[in-house]
Amino acid sequence: MNAENNLSTGLHQRILDNLSHAVLMFDTALRLVFINPAGEMLFAISASRLLGLSAEEILPGDSPLLAALKRGLQSSHPTTEYEVQLSLPGQHTITADCTVTPLSTCPDDSGLLVELRPLDHQRRVAREEQQIARQQTFRTLVRGLAHEIKNPLGGLRGAAQLLERELPAAELKEYTAIIIGEADRLRNLVDHLLGPNTIARKESLNIHRILEHIRQLVQAELPTGIHILTDYDPSIPHITGDRDQLIQAVLNVVRNAVQALGDEGEITLRTRARRQFTIGSRQHRLVCQVCIIDNGPGIPEELAENIFFPMVSGRADGTGLGLSIAQSLINQHDGLITCKSRPGLTRFCLLLPLEHSGPDSGKTTTTERNPS
Ligand SMILES: Nc1ncnc2c1ncn2[C@@H]1O[C@H](COP(=O)(O)OP(=O)(O)OP(=O)(O)O)[C@@H](O)[C@H]1O
Ligand SMILES: [Mg+2]
Repeated sequence: MNAENNLSTGLHQRILDNLSHAVLMFDTALRLVFINPAGEMLFAISASRLLGLSAEEILPGDSPLLAALKRGLQSSHPTTEYEVQLSLPGQHTITADCTVTPLSTCPDDSGLLVELRPLDHQRRVAREEQQIARQQTFRTLVRGLAHEIKNPLGGLRGAAQLLERELPAAELKEYTAIIIGEADRLRNLVDHLLGPNTIARKESLNIHRILEHIRQLVQAELPTGIHILTDYDPSIPHITGDRDQLIQAVLNVVRNAVQALGDEGEITLRTRARRQFTIGSRQHRLVCQVCIIDNGPGIPEELAENIFFPMVSGRADGTGLGLSIAQSLINQHDGLITCKSRPGLTRFCLLLPLEHSGPDSGKTTTTERNPS
């Protein structure tokens, strides 16, 4: 019987730990007595700091959730408030559906059960799904087109070379040289459009070693007014990936930040481990998040929607391939690059699932909310 009880307690714990929605429990004095990991993520504060606090300390005085909790104490029926604006401590406001269920069956554990389902999260999932689908369709189209151009291009170049050898007058070779030169230029572009064609060689990697390597590479070419800061979460376990591909992806994003800053500014390389994090519609137990943040002018508004598509560039000498290549490399790791930008703050986040990490790897610092 005892073993059965332990089994069911363990199962309940596992269910609560793996729920993607926040679950909180308040006692009848409205003190927090339980919060699940999704709740910690939402509040971006660890359970140890939240437990024992009163609802007033956790939620601002005018919070509709606080009012719903007080009402819940007087009632025995569950109530759901839709699209409630919630100001979370030290953070932006989120929109969530909140259900408050009074538990009064047993006098020892009576109180209020609260479920929070952030709509921002659902919107982010929908947006990411759409982004992944659009980029994949476009990439398939571009790759097909690039292949179609590459084949006849080889024939064209070969024929121009043969013709060059047969030409009687040296001045006519000027024309074949133009054909060969332009064919080479086009092949170069097409090769870039096709993206890196090496097969990924995945190994266990320390993400911070990779970032430090990139920092050294970039430092050498940096104007004196640009500084690179680091904010690493040392608890992130090793990731499984292709070292060269990951370096290439991060480097493309960091170089963009350097170019956007011009002569002066700051770039922050930040890492975090995220628990129960969704990438597109797939929920992962643990995700390695690498953010490259700069305080430059931001992405031009007219480009913002499309920067991950090939040949979209805001720079006169840009080919517009850097981000599309980076996105495709991270997609090959089952990950995703997201971006949020306004003047003075641009943040690119590389999300890499850490599916095979051990249970200890779940210890995280959650000082920042999901980019929504
Ligand atoms: N950190 C950033 N701040 C402001 N704008 C950015 C930033 N990162 C990217 N962009 C904008 O997104 C565009 C696309 O970037 P992407 O790396 O794909 O191409 P590119 O840098 O123009 O050319 P390439 O990388 O192929 O040399 C850039 O031209 C720039 O306008
Ligand atoms: Mg670039």
